[in-house]
Amino acid sequence: MRYFFTASLVVASLAGHIYGHRQAAPSPHDEGRVSYQRKSLGFGPEHPHAVFRSSQYQIKTNGFTPGDASMDPFEVAGRFVEDVLMSEYPLDSAFRFRSDSYTDKNTGVSHFYVRQLINGLEVTDGDMNINIKDGMVISYGNSFYNGPIPDPFTNPSAASSPLQKSCDQVIQTLKTFRRPPVVDSEQVIMGQVPASDDSTHMLEHIAESTCSLIPLPESFASDDMADFRPALLAFMMNATPDPKVASDILSNFESHKEAMEVTPTNHFTPGETTMTFTVGNVPDAVSPVKAKLAYTQILNEAGDNTELHLVWKFEVEMQDNWYETSVSASAPHNIISVVDWASDAYAPIPKKPQVPVASYSVFKWGVNDPECGNRTLEKENFDALASPVGWHSVPFSNDPSLKGVRLRTKDFYRNTSTTWGNNVFAQENWEGQNAFINNYRPDAGDSKEFHFEYDPQETDKSGALDEAQAYINATVAQLFYTTNLVHDLYYRYGFDEVSGNFQQYNFGRGGAENDAVIANAQDGSGFNNANFMTPPDGQNGRMRMYLWNTALPYRDGDLEAGIVIHELSHGLSTRLTGGPANSGCLGWGESGGMGEGWGDFLATTIRSSKVYSDFAMGSWAANRANGIRNYPYSLDEEINPSTYKTLDKPGYWGVHAVGEVWAEILWVVSQGLIKKHGFSTELFPPTPLEDGTVPTGDFYRTDKKGPLVPKHGNSLMVQLVLNGMKLQACRPSFFDARDAIIQADQVLTGGENFCTLWDGFAARGLGVDATVVNRTPWGGGIRTNGYTKPIACEEPETPKEPKSPKHKAL
Ligand SMILES: *[C@@H]1O[C@H](CO)[C@@H](O)[C@H](O)[C@H]1NC(C)=O
Ligand SMILES: *[C@@H]1O[C@H](CO)[C@@H](O)[C@H](O)[C@H]1NC(C)=O
Ligand SMILES: *[C@@H]1O[C@H](CO)[C@@H](O)[C@H](O)[C@H]1NC(C)=O
Repeated sequence: MRYFFTASLVVASLAGHIYGHRQAAPSPHDEGRVSYQRKSLGFGPEHPHAVFRSSQYQIKTNGFTPGDASMDPFEVAGRFVEDVLMSEYPLDSAFRFRSDSYTDKNTGVSHFYVRQLINGLEVTDGDMNINIKDGMVISYGNSFYNGPIPDPFTNPSAASSPLQKSCDQVIQTLKTFRRPPVVDSEQVIMGQVPASDDSTHMLEHIAESTCSLIPLPESFASDDMADFRPALLAFMMNATPDPKVASDILSNFESHKEAMEVTPTNHFTPGETTMTFTVGNVPDAVSPVKAKLAYTQILNEAGDNTELHLVWKFEVEMQDNWYETSVSASAPHNIISVVDWASDAYAPIPKKPQVPVASYSVFKWGVNDPECGNRTLEKENFDALASPVGWHSVPFSNDPSLKGVRLRTKDFYRNTSTTWGNNVFAQENWEGQNAFINNYRPDAGDSKEFHFEYDPQETDKSGALDEAQAYINATVAQLFYTTNLVHDLYYRYGFDEVSGNFQQYNFGRGGAENDAVIANAQDGSGFNNANFMTPPDGQNGRMRMYLWNTALPYRDGDLEAGIVIHELSHGLSTRLTGGPANSGCLGWGESGGMGEGWGDFLATTIRSSKVYSDFAMGSWAANRANGIRNYPYSLDEEINPSTYKTLDKPGYWGVHAVGEVWAEILWVVSQGLIKKHGFSTELFPPTPLEDGTVPTGDFYRTDKKGPLVPKHGNSLMVQLVLNGMKLQACRPSFFDARDAIIQADQVLTGGENFCTLWDGFAARGLGVDATVVNRTPWGGGIRTNGYTKPIACEEPETPKEPKSPKHKAL
């Protein structure tokens, strides 16, 4: 079965397709670096039966009596799944609670994550998230398969792919919209296609990458479903960005297959019968691949439900990507779904070791980039809750640079005088490779004064790289400083150990550890971009920041806080959505887009001040007033006209454009809250007292019992956004994420801002009557803006004016 319309090896040229030719003449040092767009695959089947239910009317409770506040939430969740949901499911369907389920310390909401099992195999996209407060299920998301159970180890459905229809649609759209490509050499991107005029570019990009997957020649396929090697090679030849590797896999298929080192690993997982394997010697993988037999749901013929398909699920770490993919276990081994974990952006307080605090010469918190202010001397003002031992200590036992070293010390913490600590390992990465431990990082000595020069001089292109590398000390220190502050800030809003944050050591507070952020400054693998890879909790996140050759001297992305915050926010949203151990919930389409949007929104909120102003993303680094998005973030519809319907424009198939719309909607919503509750110039909650309790200060409301509620509009919005991420389902739509934010307010304030929030969403077309049909595995679809608010919020005397036709025309 062939749905591919190109079978030639065009795969790898796509990174260069849009950007390659706008490269200025490379200096000797620049060799090989191109304006960077990572190759990244991301698609999967739609789940028409998937739901997120957040209103009590929608939560079915047949035979189930919830509401006993004293009941163990785990028991409530178990009964909810069994009594209510499983009644709709085939008898042999089983499930397991994932161990990354947790209870939010502030709100008291328990977040449970459930995986469906059929015939002892995991259903990779059979996810439930159940949110429980006071013995009540307040919301849940559900994408469990609900059809008949197939016989074990047979492939029940033909190996169709979710891509066929969408690729046809892309081609059709391309034909309709095709215009000569116009490329403005000044435009640079953070993984995004510039200016809406070039809307065909994104489609061409999709058509050239995903629609031209190389099929595995029939003779290479395996009849034995237990032999996953052909399936893995079929994936690798499509995933590799290097056409030489792809054609080598094809021409030396048997020897690649034979060279693989397959090791079975048995995990004890109740209810699951399948073994997992690790596979060494996989072309282009940088670490052993994990393999596991599983089911994935694919769309049925009618398109109204799913059927099961037997797949091999692989986790593949590569130089620029970290994939979780499902490949058909039977010939012809089509790729069914793929998520790239990489994206382009109150316990007692442990005693801190008595070491001097560090200080840094930096653009301080709130100064977005060098155009917004000068550097100042700032202290290591770590947050005592979030970073109890400061930023420069890490237990000897959790220090990856000491792996295998025999230690002669009674001390628990290692104190460093470099940019190496419990939350972040920051270093240069001029080589652009994956190693980081021995990369250069500044050592400030006992004084820990990271006071390094930053005074780049204008040079010609040939000297620009040297000029930038000369201030590597300053730039690594800056990256370390910003990343630690973001860690501490998000921690205080609830991105803590149990919810999957990034720390080497978790102070006994739960969650999986040994996963500090690896932060690479001036990464040599490209220019004019940045990216972040988020594996599941317990594995290090990896952030790569690039130089921008958009001006002379070069501009260094590490010094633009907005870009760093955007990237770190990928880690936040990926770990919070669908639970810490599931990194596959924001892979493509609207959910992937929101993964970008949250980062822009948070970066913009962090830099904003009491006097309202519009902001563009990345304008300093990109050397472009409007930055790297289509529009600056603005309340003014003349300046930023984005609405929900904007997603239908052909240029909006990519996650960054989708994200821009989401960030704009959040910006509008947040301004409504600020109008109502005022603005806090301080986004950091007050320092906790010795005993770990948090004073309310002027930050939290004092008129409310129960969870701590930020008093001001901007801080409240940040809180609602984070709490919403925890509530929403895996693979959320815009509607789901909106509903989750509204429920977050219900939980936190009793719903005081119900109408304020709906006002904001409805203002940009995301009202109760907004609709979407025909979404595809990447996005796409046809949307209708909805400007209607719930009846409770409509003022009867002023009927809602329809929006101006201008917006309809988008
Ligand atoms: C870290 O610093 C503290 C205070 O100076 C000291 O007690 C501790 O021994 C130090 N750790 C090591 C391993 O030097
Ligand atoms: C930085 O300092 C210089 C010299 O004091 C001043 O002229 C300039 O305006 C400052 N830049 C910013 C962005 O504040
Ligand atoms: C960076 O700082 C170190 C001291 O930690 C100093 O020896 C070195 O010369 C500095 N490097 C550059 C490029 O300025």
